[in-house]
Amino acid sequence: MSRGFFLTFEGLDGSGKSTQLRRLAAHLEAQGLRITVTRQPGGTRIGDRIRALLLDSRTERLDAMAELGLMFSDRAQCLGEVIRPALGAGRIVLCDRYTDSTEAYQGGGRQLGSEPVLRMHQVMCGGLDPDLTILLLADFDRSLARARRRNSRAAGNGKDEGRFEGENLPFHRRVFEKYQEIAAREPDRVVTIQGDRSIEQIHQQIVGLVKERLQDAAVSAGY
Ligand code: ADP
Ligand code: TYD
Repeated sequence: MSRGFFLTFEGLDGSGKSTQLRRLAAHLEAQGLRITVTRQPGGTRIGDRIRALLLDSRTERLDAMAELGLMFSDRAQCLGEVIRPALGAGRIVLCDRYTDSTEAYQGGGRQLGSEPVLRMHQVMCGGLDPDLTILLLADFDRSLARARRRNSRAAGNGKDEGRFEGENLPFHRRVFEKYQEIAAREPDRVVTIQGDRSIEQIHQQIVGLVKERLQDAAVSAGY
């Protein structure tokens, strides 16, 4: 069976992931490569409903374990409906957040630890790991300030997705540290990119990296 290429983007809220993912998707499409773009939580109709529950700041008293389960329920749906079929068809899948987010936010931020997250990953995702993960690490305070600005603009349009940005600074510090721990543990899969440069500079670095990895993986249709 053909096997595409699974690429994920990770980072703190406001680190510039979605911006870079969109830029890379446009670049790859222009090369004639077949890509599928998705995100977590969300990315399917069921996932969007789970996302609304998880991100709405009016969701109160959600148990940390229930939150963990919902993240993986969303992921299982996205895997079944979007990611596995696309990879099976030989496509390049670009996914905004995946299990590293759960390890960073629920494992680190909520202090559930890495172990339950990695165990659930084995069960719920069959251990499907990305071929490459781009971890955007921008300045801590700047990332959060950007995410909060963006979400308060969105809230003005009636869309409330501020539950995680509303967490306190120690929470976000733990997320940041867990991301660094994951990158140190899996240096081949996870490539850290410094996010404190212009959107274009970061984009060019990502294009170079992805081109190299796609060639290694022989997904070379456009190259
Ligand atoms: P994320 O998906 O990581 O939360 P976004 O891509 O939505 O982040 O970016 C958050 C905000 O920061 C957006 O308004 C975006 O235009 C801006 N932004 C993204 N990357 C940069 C950058 N390198 N420099 C300055 N602003 C940026
Ligand atoms: P996202 O929409 O990517 O936020 P942003 O664009 O601000 O980076 O993700 C929504 C939020 O969900 C984000 O604050 C991180 C959180 N999250 C988790 O806590 N665990 C997870 O497993 C995932 C996928 C996201």
